[in-house]
Amino acid sequence: MKRPIGIFDSGVGGLTVYRAIRAAFPSEDLIYFGDTARVPYGPKSPNTILDYSLQNARFLLQHNIKILVVACNTASAVALPQLQNLARIPIVGVIEPGAMQAVQKTKSGRIGVIGTMGTVRSQAYGKAILNLAPDFEIYSTACPLFVSLAEEGFDRHPVAKTIAQHYLSFFDDKDIDTLVLGCTHYPLLKDVIAEVMGPDVSLVDSAQAISDHLQTLIAPTDNTKPGTDEFFVSDNEEQFSQLAAKILGSELHHLKRVKLFESWFEE
Ligand code: DGL
Repeated sequence: MKRPIGIFDSGVGGLTVYRAIRAAFPSEDLIYFGDTARVPYGPKSPNTILDYSLQNARFLLQHNIKILVVACNTASAVALPQLQNLARIPIVGVIEPGAMQAVQKTKSGRIGVIGTMGTVRSQAYGKAILNLAPDFEIYSTACPLFVSLAEEGFDRHPVAKTIAQHYLSFFDDKDIDTLVLGCTHYPLLKDVIAEVMGPDVSLVDSAQAISDHLQTLIAPTDNTKPGTDEFFVSDNEEQFSQLAAKILGSELHHLKRVKLFESWFEE
């Protein structure tokens, strides 16, 4: 029996990951869960991020998934080892693949990382990169307003450039040649980030990195029948649909709200 790939995020941003996976695996069935009732995860404490992530994963595991993709960088940074204890299927986060691509891309070994407060505080990217290349220099900074800019569709608005210039000035004296976009929303601001960082800095898109990594876990298929898509959220279906249409360039079908917290109350 064909089993789906499960993907979860704190909300709508993980659709950048869904989009990359859908493009690379057109015949796979995908199930996406966005925890829109409890987003954002970035400013929350590790304990809360862990609790939420375990609930999200258990929900997707009920759907007989064959792989679980933790699209949320903050959840990947904080909760991956505990999530991996939940089931005997591959449970993959975005940090390792992003770190790997950064190591492959850099020439100078000086790498920048941007993400939420939770991701930056965890130093997960730094640890993963130094694991692969102990001599590299890593510089990380949080860019919390990028999430709101992306959700408001302000990716081309002048305010996006002003805010990007402010946050990214952190790297002015760091001489990095590679910057990891360590948050689901940041690929949506790629153009403005690239413009501010200039042509000498390569960007690593963690959504693309995880999709590339899945090539090592999913056997190639001759199946040409398009895979199915199912979307679940914990709140605000309308808003999710509107943002999803903007991110994906097409309307969503099969979107449902789930009462995750009631069913898992006793967990
Ligand atoms: N999905 C989160 C991440 O990739 C960004 C949004 C949030 O703070 O929940 O880190």
